[in-house]
Amino acid sequence: MESKHTPKKTPNLTTILHLILITTLTHITPIQTQSWDGIIVTEADFQALQSFKQSLIDPNGFLKSWNDSGYGACSGGWQGIKCAQGQVIVIQLPFRGLGGQITTKIGQFQALRKLSLHNNIITGSIPKELGLLPNLRGLQLFNNKFTGSIPASLGLCPLIQSIDLSNNLVNLTFNQLTGGIPVRIVKSNSIKFLALGYNNLSGSVPDSWGSGGIGVKPVFQSLTFDHNLLTGGLPVSLGKLTDVEEISFGHNRFSGSIPVEFGGLLKLTSIDLSYNNISGSIPTSFENLTLVKSMNLAHNHLTGEIPSFLGEKLNLSEFNVSYNNLSGSVPSRLSSKFDSSAFVGNLDLCGYSPSTACPTSPPPSTAPFQPSNHRGNGNKLSTKGIILIAAGAVIALLLLICCILLCCLLKKRGGGGRPKDAERGGGEGGAAAAAAGKGEAPPQAEAAGEAGGKLVHFEGTMGFTADDLLCATAEIMGKSTYGTVYKATLEDGDQVAVKRLREKITKNQREFEVEVNLLGKIRHPNLLAMRAYYLGPKGEKLLVFDYMPKGSLATFLHARGPETPVDWPTRMQIAKGMARGLLSLHTHHNIIHGNLTSSNVLLDETINPKIADFGLSRLMTTAANSNVIATAGALGYRAPELSKLKKANTKTDVYSLGVIILELLTGKSPGEAMNGVDLPQWVASIVKEEWTNEVFDLELMKDASVIGDELLNTLKLALHCVDPSPSARPEVQLVLQQLEEIRPETAASSGDDGGAGPSTSE
Ligand SMILES: *[C@@H]1O[C@H](CO)[C@@H](O)[C@H](O)[C@H]1NC(C)=O
Ligand SMILES: *[C@@H]1O[C@H](CO)[C@@H](O)[C@H](O)[C@H]1NC(C)=O
Ligand SMILES: *[C@@H]1O[C@H](CO)[C@@H](O)[C@H](O)[C@H]1NC(C)=O
Ligand SMILES: *[C@@H]1O[C@H](CO)[C@@H](O)[C@H](O)[C@H]1NC(C)=O
Ligand SMILES: *[C@@H]1O[C@H](CO)[C@@H](O)[C@H](O)[C@H]1NC(C)=O
Ligand SMILES: *[C@@H]1O[C@H](CO)[C@@H](O)[C@H](O)[C@H]1NC(C)=O
Ligand SMILES: *[C@@H]1O[C@H](CO)[C@@H](O)[C@H](O)[C@H]1NC(C)=O
Ligand SMILES: *[C@@H]1O[C@H](CO)[C@@H](O)[C@H](O)[C@H]1NC(C)=O
Repeated sequence: MESKHTPKKTPNLTTILHLILITTLTHITPIQTQSWDGIIVTEADFQALQSFKQSLIDPNGFLKSWNDSGYGACSGGWQGIKCAQGQVIVIQLPFRGLGGQITTKIGQFQALRKLSLHNNIITGSIPKELGLLPNLRGLQLFNNKFTGSIPASLGLCPLIQSIDLSNNLVNLTFNQLTGGIPVRIVKSNSIKFLALGYNNLSGSVPDSWGSGGIGVKPVFQSLTFDHNLLTGGLPVSLGKLTDVEEISFGHNRFSGSIPVEFGGLLKLTSIDLSYNNISGSIPTSFENLTLVKSMNLAHNHLTGEIPSFLGEKLNLSEFNVSYNNLSGSVPSRLSSKFDSSAFVGNLDLCGYSPSTACPTSPPPSTAPFQPSNHRGNGNKLSTKGIILIAAGAVIALLLLICCILLCCLLKKRGGGGRPKDAERGGGEGGAAAAAAGKGEAPPQAEAAGEAGGKLVHFEGTMGFTADDLLCATAEIMGKSTYGTVYKATLEDGDQVAVKRLREKITKNQREFEVEVNLLGKIRHPNLLAMRAYYLGPKGEKLLVFDYMPKGSLATFLHARGPETPVDWPTRMQIAKGMARGLLSLHTHHNIIHGNLTSSNVLLDETINPKIADFGLSRLMTTAANSNVIATAGALGYRAPELSKLKKANTKTDVYSLGVIILELLTGKSPGEAMNGVDLPQWVASIVKEEWTNEVFDLELMKDASVIGDELLNTLKLALHCVDPSPSARPEVQLVLQQLEEIRPETAASSGDDGGAGPSTSE
């Protein structure tokens, strides 16, 4: 009947959904349209209709049929009107370009069930007289230009089921409703759909939901309040709305924590609390929300861990907790299902992308280097495993603190070593010196045979003993294929990094010592120095390195706030340092790194980069290595040919270096999803479109006028390094040379180059 006038604008999906809703509503409450001619509209309704037309502005003449005779009002002659027994029951005029206002005479339509005026440009306030309509069931006023507040009287309409005052138009011509949400609406026992999104609603949401009376049940199914200025806590009483399926409170200013009572919303399928100021943890009561498919908690201040039941008991198809203060490891079921953008922006959250591999499988706990029973099986631990390990670690810790204190005390009193172990792997203290003196003698190595094990120091070491090392307090920093890394604080306060190698996969002691003595000699400003190793009486193997307080390049670059920018000279210093370290490995030590990532590049106090984790494959059995190489190179840093070749070489290392330089240029982590393509492909695609500047980290663009050429040339070089064809990639020597040409070494303070040529510091 209104098909002659097709809407001018194509409604968007939300609008279509609303239209479906309206149709459904019409079905729920069937309307008996009087079809015979001659029925006369009641005097009260006729007056109201005239007033309604007068107060609207109808530029397109849709209301022409509403003429003065009133004869056609209820005989189907008047556009958008339906009647029953001479009374208007439906006014439905969406998409008519209507302006003006709604008359206050609207209260005269005593039989009106539905008022649908969405997608017009009606202004003024929503008349409180709507509250006088005893039969009103549906009110669709979304996508208009109403101002003022929501009339509390709407809560008086005893039959109202659906109120939609939101704005969903792409054109963003919002209703501008201000003021709070009236308590009467909140107490309603008839409203199912309450949509108030995209308005200027302010104040807090009343906390009296579902308190409409004794023995009556609220029937709210959908509450959409997103994109307003609502403040205060999330109302606890929402937990009483057991029929609620959708809660959409995103983009407001709600604070406080998520009420535990929300766990009672057993029919909930969608909850959006994103972009608020919500703190506290994700409540354990969410375990009950087994129907929830979509959960968006992004951009809040949530703390604590992501509970594993979210992956195990819920079957989420959308999940987002990005930009909170969550910590711990992401449950594996969630990290495998959702890309890293769902988790980014949480400083202490790990395990959701290659670059955020969990440094702390158990949350930062302390665990000394006593032989323990669990053996890390690679990088992947099940959530259960992590929980067990964490629990185990706590118990072990308590026991061990006692033991260690006792051990250290006894040591001090008794003095000297106690030859406690009869059975030893490789021989006594003297044997260590003997072994060291054989073949390639490590020039600075010394052997210390105490506590039944053997400690060998390399050049530049701190003078700790095996007992000092074993009595040190230790904190797990990370796990890798080859073992676990701890930060150990010696009794005198010195700190070292200790890598405990997985036992079954290392070479036998003789071969191991030959190789480790070679690795221990490697000294370069950009390579992490090994200071000592320890062989325990039961075959434990510990490697001791310098401790780098600034952590890895990955955390330095990606886990920082906007208030700590990293400038271009610093990034360039890191790029050059890495290239120097890698060059030294390739040319002087004949070592292929095989797993160069920004997590394996550590930074000292002066942000001088030091490559870590090189050469360890030499300490492992061939069998172990062939297993490891199959997975070598973290995703995102791995040259494409490695998936077939399975053998790292200098060109695959250069590829990884190229990815890290791209990381420095773009500020993006290779783990971040960029529409499913990796960082090199993403950068290449943008450069191809000649949008080159779009790839650079915004921080760097501030100085683009000064360093623009340096950025571009470094970008070209990095893209050269990540060329899909290995033969096209430069060797690291050329990479270093070009980096030094792009930004010649400068005097420490001056920003200008003093003509200093390429440095070849070795
Ligand atoms: C009023 O409109 C109806 C159709 O809706 C028409 O039949 C009638 O003739 C019109 N009357 C006048 C006075 O225009
Ligand atoms: C927004 O509204 C203007 C005029 O009101 C119209 O020309 C334009 O096409 C609309 N845009 C969209 C995306 O609907
Ligand atoms: C809505 O809120 C915004 C932000 O506070 C404000 O700039 C704007 O003037 C408000 N609009 C109305 C109609 O109150
Ligand atoms: C979760 O469900 C259990 C069992 O159905 C129930 O006992 C418990 O009260 C619920 N928790 C909340 C917070 O509603
Ligand atoms: C966020 O919430 C905290 C308390 O939880 C409050 O102190 C702070 O002022 C709030 N910030 C904003 C912007 O509302
Ligand atoms: C989880 O949800 C998906 C779609 O959302 C569905 O295909 C799948 O069967 C569900 N799995 C379970 C165990 O319910
Ligand atoms: C969240 O983390 C930031 C940055 O580390 C910190 O400043 C802030 O205090 C933390 N907020 C809460 C609620 O823990
Ligand atoms: C998570 O939310 C952030 C911020 O709104 C968004 O950028 C990101 O794409 C979302 N990720 C997913 C997987 O929904």
